[in-house]
Amino acid sequence: MSGRVEHLAEGVTLHLGDCREILPTLGKVDAMVTDPPYGMRFRSNSRLIRHEAIANDSTTDALLWACNIPVKHSKYIFCRWDNLAEVPKPRSVVNWIKNNWSMGDLEHEHARQTEIALFYPGENHHFPCGRPTDVVEVRRTGNDHHPSEKPVDLMWAVVRWTDGLVVDPFMGSGTTGVACAKLGRKFIGIEIETKYFEIACRRISEALKQPDMFVAAPPPAKQQALAL
Ligand SMILES: C[S@@+](CC[C@H](N)C(=O)[O-])C[C@H]1O[C@@H](n2cnc3c(N)ncnc32)[C@H](O)[C@@H]1O
Repeated sequence: MSGRVEHLAEGVTLHLGDCREILPTLGKVDAMVTDPPYGMRFRSNSRLIRHEAIANDSTTDALLWACNIPVKHSKYIFCRWDNLAEVPKPRSVVNWIKNNWSMGDLEHEHARQTEIALFYPGENHHFPCGRPTDVVEVRRTGNDHHPSEKPVDLMWAVVRWTDGLVVDPFMGSGTTGVACAKLGRKFIGIEIETKYFEIACRRISEALKQPDMFVAAPPPAKQQALAL
């Protein structure tokens, strides 16, 4: 089912559907923090669980689409180092250092312990918390909610580099939204798979009840006018 919209709090809205149809209806957004499918045909063998393939992961179309969306403040887009040849040149590449490393070619490839996020500033860009380095060191998650789940602490660090409303058009299990809820930031998330949309609704609703210390929880969503 698509076309479902959940208003979880004032300024926190989740859409079930295709971001390529929904995002253009939202106007130019302040910030985008996202982890799109980037052509891995992702299937995880971790803990002997074989996950379903991620939607639209057989090409880099989703990644390139995200790279070309204009924003007012900034865009952070996760991908792999070997996508760099295909994407528009970013202003910075942020390195996420994990506590594990990839297998790959054991003889002729370095054990990769990093993933990257592309940074593209918009016309209103400034660093809200001073100039950050291009390194974030955060432990990976156990992928309990999504086969390519990002840690909340990683998205929390990245969201703090942005200003205004944050959009994640490839929301998955809602990790960016959880980080925004903890930081008291406005958020719009879009996810095409009902299963992950439901998980995102639950995780973000829970996070809204427990914002970080000194962050005021957003007021509950206003009742939407009924079209009679
Ligand atoms: C790499 S995952 C994001 C995982 C997320 N960072 C998390 O922590 O759970 C990408 C997500 O994009 C979704 N997706 C793929 N194509 C989409 C589209 N056209 N519109 C909206 N969501 C899409 C997939 O279903 C998948 O859940």
